[in-house]
Amino acid sequence: MYWEKELEVLDRKNLEKLQVERLMATLRQAVNSQYYGKIPEINKAIKSGIHSIEQVRELPFTTKEDLRGDFPWGFLAVDKREVVRLHSSSGTTGNPTVVYHNRHDLDSWANLMARSLFAAGVRDTDVFQNMAGYGLFTGGLGFQYGVEKLGCLSIPAGAGNSLRQIKLMRDYGTTVAHAIPSYLGRLFDVFKEEGLDPRKDTKLHTLVIGAEPHTEEHRLRIQEMFGVKAYNSFGLSEMNGPGVAFECTEQNGLHIWEDAYVVEIIDPVTLQPVTDGEIGELVMTTLDRRAMPVIRYRTRDLTRFLPGECKCGRTHRRLDRIAGRSDDMFIMKGCNVFPMQIEGVLMKLPEVGDDYRIMLETIDDQDEMIVEVEVKKDWFKGDLSVLDRLQKHITHLIRDEVLVRPLIKLVEPGSIPKTEGKAVRVFDHRKK
Ligand code: COA
Ligand code: AMP
Ligand code: ZN
Repeated sequence: MYWEKELEVLDRKNLEKLQVERLMATLRQAVNSQYYGKIPEINKAIKSGIHSIEQVRELPFTTKEDLRGDFPWGFLAVDKREVVRLHSSSGTTGNPTVVYHNRHDLDSWANLMARSLFAAGVRDTDVFQNMAGYGLFTGGLGFQYGVEKLGCLSIPAGAGNSLRQIKLMRDYGTTVAHAIPSYLGRLFDVFKEEGLDPRKDTKLHTLVIGAEPHTEEHRLRIQEMFGVKAYNSFGLSEMNGPGVAFECTEQNGLHIWEDAYVVEIIDPVTLQPVTDGEIGELVMTTLDRRAMPVIRYRTRDLTRFLPGECKCGRTHRRLDRIAGRSDDMFIMKGCNVFPMQIEGVLMKLPEVGDDYRIMLETIDDQDEMIVEVEVKKDWFKGDLSVLDRLQKHITHLIRDEVLVRPLIKLVEPGSIPKTEGKAVRVFDHRKK
């Protein structure tokens, strides 16, 4: 059973033919933007034509820094009047990463999302509760429009407020829910505190989990706690958001939708393709986006192609779960955090000394970000109310920057142990 049979089981030869056609159309569209319009390799490819999908390698990469550098309109490839929505990364300092969509793009994204959910067994008879953040996060509206397209009854619950999540689930008979995996331990605890068992006291049969790295063991634990099948959902805002790659009911890797993206895996050092099956950095090119095509985007996510065909019959290749990142970004409570954002906040404050470190811990089944900050001698000796104010001030500034409330520990100068060589700032002790 497929959402769009003709595309999902298309034989590889015809799938690649479609990719070549769409890549040409994408390049023609992309050069309408200030950024890509200036790139000689793209203009050359348009003139001489693309004849095989491997030729994508003749095009230059696009990085997050490129997207930020040409903020806010440099990548826009249509007239501003055509744009109907934007999504953007967090942060109050520096340029955010912004992605624009026109009506075609939103419809195409909703369709990919509906296709993904259908592959995981979700049907229009389901009641779907979305526990991701709405607003600029793509996990909110991204799922919302896909679920509506599929025809489920949708409950746009948003993130947080576990008691209310449970009430919604029970009042409306939620059968499928989407949440980030690290939140589900907390949700389960609240079920228990209420004397409830999600296996018996809800109608849940499926959870969609994603937006952050997690292990197979973590998935099994979630399945056991909730008595459901849990499917891995992968996406990133630069490529729309969720709906990029998704597990089918075989649960053996994530089908990445190759009619919508050219997918490469490269060695992040040599920038050459890895041999098939080896782990490398995922690089993606949009094939069905008009307002803002992105070419050879270096996602920094590390993964590999899984070998063999899938029993479900879909011909789109499968990715292994994400194994890590080739940069220092980490994800806390579903929010992306770059240590440099935190450093940027701290180093502006005259009271703060030279050193800080970020400890990621799981406390009572909730992930927490503890930031230890060295305070300069004169300030540290000052009275406690001054330190208390400073602590609150830093908490607010970091919360505004990364959208997660940190626990701030102010410490004496020199008390943070030095690491050898390059300073290690992040210590991740979370239960995975
Ligand atoms: N999803 C849903 N709810 C979450 C959550 C998550 N990722 N992380 C924490 N929560 C819940 C907490 O359990 C708490 O509710 P409860 O006390 O009723 O159980 C509430 O949100 C606030 O938690 P707190 O730890 O005080 O959060 P914070 O202030 O540090 O962060 C969040 C606020 C959770 C709202 C913010 O991190 C967020 O919006 N996360 C969701 C991001 C998301 O959806 N990403 C997906 C992108 S595809
Ligand atoms: P955002 O652009 O905010 O949606 O964040 C995208 C990033 O979240 C990706 O580049 C990944 O690093 C991470 N991510 C999303 N989905 C998954 C997943 N299923 N498993 C692991 N990491 C994920
Ligand atoms: Zn499959």
